Amino acid sequence: MVDAHCHLNYPKYENDLDEVVKRAKEKGVGKIINVGTSLEYSKIAVELSEKYENMYAIVGIHPHDSGNVNGNWEKDLETLIKTPKVIGIGEIGLDYFAHNDVDSKIQKGVFEKQIEIAFKNKMPIQIHSRKAADDILDILSNYKSYFLNPPGMFHCMAGNLEYLKKILDLGFYVGFDGNITYKGLAPGEDTSLEELVKYTPLDRIITETDAPWLTPEPYRGSRNEPSYVIITAESIAKIKGITFDEVNNTTTKNAETLFNI
Ligand code: NI
Repeated sequence: MVDAHCHLNYPKYENDLDEVVKRAKEKGVGKIINVGTSLEYSKIAVELSEKYENMYAIVGIHPHDSGNVNGNWEKDLETLIKTPKVIGIGEIGLDYFAHNDVDSKIQKGVFEKQIEIAFKNKMPIQIHSRKAADDILDILSNYKSYFLNPPGMFHCMAGNLEYLKKILDLGFYVGFDGNITYKGLAPGEDTSLEELVKYTPLDRIITETDAPWLTPEPYRGSRNEPSYVIITAESIAKIKGITFDEVNNTTTKNAETLFNI
């Protein structure tokens, strides 16, 4: 199994990273992809990919951090991309949820630049989208002629079925996290994650944790880690009425195909 999106590059793992990695391996999580949210955290993700054989890095500027970029950020990002175990650009996108106060024009500019950098360098993109479905689809449609096949994945899918359908039509994979084990609707959403899991074909699903956040039940409230991606896969199997092995085999293949790992 692959954890295609986590942040072991964050300080929360400074003291016990070796144990976290060991537990993941013991549970059958063979590959871990750490994702940058700023240049600083992208660099740490790259360092980890050089230190641990089973780790890869996705580098990029998160919409929350898009207001803090300096004049050289595009050049710095392109330098990071050249590192051997960088396999994608993320997490990039738009976040219009209440807690993000970065102006939408700034978010869009940084998102668009990173799409250009990604496809120019033949890298898939990993998208963060929160309450911004229309603008995300507008921007992606504008870049359709630059798309790789497949173009990338949506991280931590949320939204309605219409949005999901359009994402699938564009050729993207869809990532699900531990929050699919939570009861009820997430704040600001009108469609349950269970419905989204049901609708998404297994051959388009990728498993991820977003650790340290989105810890699945029954560990919700504590720090998340890649070994818990197994719980998300078990939940997908239950929702779809299929076996864990089917979910494990297909989602692993999906992640390995998309990121060429
Ligand atoms: Ni994340």
